[in-house]
Amino acid sequence: LVNDDRHDPAEVIEISVGLENSPYSVWIGDGILDSIGERLGAWRRGKKVALVTDANVAPLYADRVLSSLTAAGFSPCLIVVPAGESSKCLAGVEMICDAMISAGLDRSSSLVALGGGVIGDLAGFAAAVYYRGIPYVQVPTTVVAQVDSAVGGKTGVNATGGKNLIGAFHQPAMVFCDPFTLSTLPTREFNEGIAEVIKHAAIRMPSLLDELDPNQRTGLAPMIAKNVSIKAEIVAADEFETIGLRAMLNFGHTLGHAIENVAGYGTLLHGEAISIGLHAALKLSAQFEGMPDADANRVLDALRAFHLPLQIPAGLQSARIFDAMMKDKKFASGSMRFVLLRALGKPVISSDVTPDAVRDVIASLQTA
Ligand code: NAD
Ligand code: GLY
Repeated sequence: LVNDDRHDPAEVIEISVGLENSPYSVWIGDGILDSIGERLGAWRRGKKVALVTDANVAPLYADRVLSSLTAAGFSPCLIVVPAGESSKCLAGVEMICDAMISAGLDRSSSLVALGGGVIGDLAGFAAAVYYRGIPYVQVPTTVVAQVDSAVGGKTGVNATGGKNLIGAFHQPAMVFCDPFTLSTLPTREFNEGIAEVIKHAAIRMPSLLDELDPNQRTGLAPMIAKNVSIKAEIVAADEFETIGLRAMLNFGHTLGHAIENVAGYGTLLHGEAISIGLHAALKLSAQFEGMPDADANRVLDALRAFHLPLQIPAGLQSARIFDAMMKDKKFASGSMRFVLLRALGKPVISSDVTPDAVRDVIASLQTA
């Protein structure tokens, strides 16, 4: 971690994502939003930059980023998409690309993604395919995005048949996390992001569970930095998820994505579906890996403290969730592979989980 004192008195933390071919830095600091243009100055290519954001974030933060880019000599064009998961689709990519074509952006241009995980994934994918790939910068404004999705280069959109099924690896050139932006997040959106923090704690840093305070909404930079470090270390070691390490980040996501898909994107927030998926993964961890109850209870207590759901909402049929899970790309090879825990901080990839065990765990989480 490196302190950077070029700007305001608030500490800025730099975390390196040590990829062999495309290393980059994640900068974390309260108020860093206002110095993005200046910080991009040395990196810039063409002057034209697309600032892509959503309709909730635009009125809150777009002007500050536009001013910062303009002051640094860029010519930004603002592209605003509707807020919410339903924008994360191919039509959303087309809309962004069309707007960039109309604004005259070419292969020397770049893109800034300002918003939550939806904007990061969607705009990142647009950057991956526009002129066969232009550089982009992530400016995450939700907990999910700051602790997880903005780092690692997974970009993409949902297909009717499943979540994130259309996408590309495209690493950002830089990431700027401004924890101050989290102060405007509605409580429900703040809490859903903590599901990814709890996931990181469960697979990599159990001590994080003791540091989480449901009432804390300021001074979050150190917590964000710990999560970014976890993600950065895993991504640097296994960028393309080929050696099994990055797959550990899918803890709780196998069932979580299926629940999100069957509920209809946007019904449950992403982190809420992941919270239910984490509950399922903890049960399977106890059954197949002997995870101690005390460990599972620490995770469940943390999820409850942030009012995250642990049961599948009424009306979602078990059979549909099971089918959606089987279609998930993680099962494309036909084998059922689950990330489970032997204990907190000790993840394994298991092929032992049977379809019946999955059906049973789904049934056990159904709301009566
Ligand atoms: P989101 O982007 O939809 O943001 C949640 C809501 O908060 C939206 O309504 C948004 O407009 C609003 N918002 C954003 N920032 C705000 C702010 N500072 N103040 C007020 N409102 C604000 O959702 P999310 O939870 O950030 O991200 C979920 C998405 O991220 C899912 O699509 C998920 O698949 C994806 N994801 C991707 C990765 C990855 O590695 N690429 C990892 C985790 C999650
Ligand atoms: N969010 C899972 C990953 O980036 O691999």
